[in-house]
This record gives sequence, structure tokens and C-alpha cells, in this order.
Amino acid sequence: SPLAAPDISKCGTLPLSGFKPGEDTPTGGDCCPPDSSQILDFEFPKNQTFKVRPAAHLLSPKYIEKFNLAIKRMKELPADDPRNFLQQAHIHCAYCNGAYTQSSSGFPDIEIQIHNSWLFFPFHRWYLYFYERIMGSLIDDPTFALPFWNWDTPAGMTIPKYFNNESSALFDPKRNQSHLQAVIDLGYNGADADTTDVEKVTNNLAIMYRQMVTNATDPTSFFGGEYRAGNEPISGGGSVEQSPHTPVHRWVGDTREPNGEDLGNFYSAGRDTLFYCHHSNVDRMWSLWKMLGGKHKDITDEDWLNTSFVFYDEKKNLVRVYVKDCLFTNQLGYDYQRVDVPWLKSKP
Ligand code: C2O
Repeated sequence: SPLAAPDISKCGTLPLSGFKPGEDTPTGGDCCPPDSSQILDFEFPKNQTFKVRPAAHLLSPKYIEKFNLAIKRMKELPADDPRNFLQQAHIHCAYCNGAYTQSSSGFPDIEIQIHNSWLFFPFHRWYLYFYERIMGSLIDDPTFALPFWNWDTPAGMTIPKYFNNESSALFDPKRNQSHLQAVIDLGYNGADADTTDVEKVTNNLAIMYRQMVTNATDPTSFFGGEYRAGNEPISGGGSVEQSPHTPVHRWVGDTREPNGEDLGNFYSAGRDTLFYCHHSNVDRMWSLWKMLGGKHKDITDEDWLNTSFVFYDEKKNLVRVYVKDCLFTNQLGYDYQRVDVPWLKSKP
């Protein structure tokens, strides 16, 4: 049967997993959201304003300003407001470091883990969907859409400059200091490759082709392994989750920190604003993959389609969502800016 959304009132009963304890690491229920007496079932908003998520390296100064303001306002909210910046970051910790159990599915001793399986794409799509709505509402701009870090095109293969501006709300001091202006390595495994920038770009495009085309010929290879109620986590991540998704996390994470904080560890990843742009591009890969046609289709297994999660929306309502309602970004009211996709021509 499908994995049911966690009972958030039971958050934090299992020990958190996945990090070496340090000063800044959460303990027990630190990454649990405020409780809610009611849960609303998700409905597609009526008359929603359609949004186009733009490439992060192509933003106008005005758009950067809006992005910055939205994050600044999230950071200024009271600490216990579920829309608060840190609360939103904690969502990732709760769903990924074992703060939630499968108790609502009848398995209180088994944790929920939305990585390394077919839940990876839909979970993050929903996470960003609510994040974006919260941002838009805090700046009173329903057209605001989450930029995507276009690391799959040469001009997008560095951290967009404005993330390095120390006075910006988008800044995060916990990033690898030697990567702030470097060309990314989409195959990064913890050590800097001894290659030129030109070689890095070529390698990156080849990795993109391999992970999106060669290694993702059917739904299982693209989305990852089955994960149903009662399953222990980790059945196997899909092609893009394994790479470039995880290498990008590790490449940005700060090597001075005990667990690669922020982006290099599940519990802290959401504390870096780059996380949301990184995942916006990961989400875009889902859309692009389906556009390749043929066997590039969503999973049809009922357990996948009926898996549910809960998130707080921009009105601070706790909302239950199902995987089956997030398959088409158009239905959710957004699409991605159309940009060149150079790796499609990078067949090795
Ligand atoms: Cu939930 Cu990029 O990890």
C-alpha cells in the first residue's frame, strides 16, 4: 500500500540520522514543524496566476530584488511560524533524517525517507510548490516563481553571482569557499577534479546526456526504486537523483563544517537558499525527461500515485497532497522558461 503522510504530532520519536553531532546539529524534535489541529486536502487553486520559473543566471536586477525580499521576509517571520525560513528548511530535515515514522501507515518503528527511491521527484516538487507560494504571498506577487539553477548549460555552471553578496538574504556563509566562482563538476565525489574549465563543461554535458538519456530509459531508472508503506528506506535512487543531484549538493557544501553543511547534508540543505534553485532545476529535469517522449512516462503504480505528504501553505494551513496531483506542472500553475538544452546534443 502507499506510504501515508506522516502524523506530525508524532514527529521526533526516532533518533535523527545522517550527521555527526556538532554545535549546530539538531537533536530530537528540533526539525519538527508546529502541530496543527486540522489538515486540509489539497485542491487546485482556482484562477491561479500562471508562473514561469526563470533561469537563475538570467535574472534581471529587479527579479533578484524580489527574490531577496521574499527570502528576507521568510527569515523575519516568528520562529514558530511554519512559513519561517528555518521552519521551511526543517521540512527537509524532518522528511530526510528520520524525524517522521511511518506510524500513519501502521509502521511506527520504520522511518520515512523520501530520498533514494521513487518518492524523490514528487516530494521535492511539492516542497518547492508550497515554498514558492509562500514567497509569492510574502511579497504580494502571485507571479513570483522560483528561479532554477541552470547547471546543465555552460553559462549556468557557476553559483549565480548574487548568492555571494554578503548583505543579501540569499547569502549563506556555509558553502565551499573554493567553489564560489568555480565551474561546477556535476560528477563531484568529494575531490576537485584536475581538469580545465573547458573540460569540466564538456564533462558536465556528457553527464547530463548520460543521466537523462542513456541511464534513464524507463520510469524505474529515472524515478528510482519502489518505496511503499512498511518498506525500509533506500531502495535505490533514480539516475538524476544520483547524479547530478547529489554531486551538486556535495560540491556546494562547506568542507570546513563537520557534515558538509549546509547543502551537503539532508538536515541542513534547506538552510541554503541555493537549495531551492538547485531543486527547481532538478524538478525541471522531470519535465524535460517526459518531453523526450516514448517510454519517458510517469509511473502508473497506484502506490506511487497515492503516496501522500503534508506541507504548510502560505496561509499556514496544513495541507495533505498526493503524488498523483503533481505530475503536470501546468496543473500546478507553473512552467519553466524555455532555454537551450545543449546536453541533448552531447551524446558521447
Ligand atoms: Cu532532498 Cu536535494 O535533496
